Amino acid sequence: MTDLYAVFGNPIAHSKSPAIHAAFARASNQALIYEARLAAVDGFEQAISDFRTAGGQGANVTVPFKEEAYRLCTRLSDRAARAGAVNTLTFNGNEIFGDNTDGAGLVRDITHNFGYELAGKRVLLLGAGGAARGAIAPLLAGAPASLFIANRSAEKAELLAAAFADIFPVNTGNFAKIAGNSFHLVINATSASLAGESLPLPQGIFAAGSLAYDMMYGKGETPFMALAREQGASCCADGLGMLVEQAAEAFFVWRAVRPPTAAVLANLRAGLHA
Ligand code: ATR
Repeated sequence: MTDLYAVFGNPIAHSKSPAIHAAFARASNQALIYEARLAAVDGFEQAISDFRTAGGQGANVTVPFKEEAYRLCTRLSDRAARAGAVNTLTFNGNEIFGDNTDGAGLVRDITHNFGYELAGKRVLLLGAGGAARGAIAPLLAGAPASLFIANRSAEKAELLAAAFADIFPVNTGNFAKIAGNSFHLVINATSASLAGESLPLPQGIFAAGSLAYDMMYGKGETPFMALAREQGASCCADGLGMLVEQAAEAFFVWRAVRPPTAAVLANLRAGLHA
């Protein structure tokens, strides 16, 4: 039987993961099937159980199930434990191993695809939800000079920073508190643009040569990228590369093979603009 994988989410119809993993499998000569599976909002655990019974070997997990997946695991990677969420499941007999490749995908896109070193940089992370949380440990592993977490509600940023206080002293505050500081890397991990809302970022926060990175992506420039460009960011990126790189990292977790990503990313980009 061909090795079987799937991505579970709700909604899931427009997921790019099946196409990405099919391309990885072709490029690396791996025989596998990767499907998109819709799980009912209250039916994730059952869907995973059914999938394991049917011979599924691993699964990706997307909105809104990443925290539930975390709770379902019998073993977690360090980065998943830190993220408090799981996007990659591996089934081994009775074991459910949970990993989180989102932060690694973000960092790989920034450092490898954009050639942007984290070491010694001042980093600003916007947002304090699940997306921000998953990014922190992988960002800190790159040895930045400092990390500031800014969020609409400062308390949530403070709570999040406290969860990483054992590895790094993270600064926190609301968006107004950023004023007077400048950063080499600014990452948008808020979901503000889903609501069509812009972020009230103070002027002057983008240092010379800075990269503005939006975890979101769309057909063209995202609202955050437009704002960053207007405020002087040197380079602006959307999250399409992160999507491909987190998938490559999951593929590596399952298959112990690192697939090439550049052509897959270029094809997806072309598809967005078609
Ligand atoms: P995700 O899993 O995508 O991170 P989440 O956990 O719901 O989603 O977190 C959403 C993040 O986007 C939060 O940091 C939220 O700020 P609050 O903690 O203050 O709610 C942020 N966010 C959502 N809409 C926003 C908006 N219009 N302006 C600023 N921040 C926003």
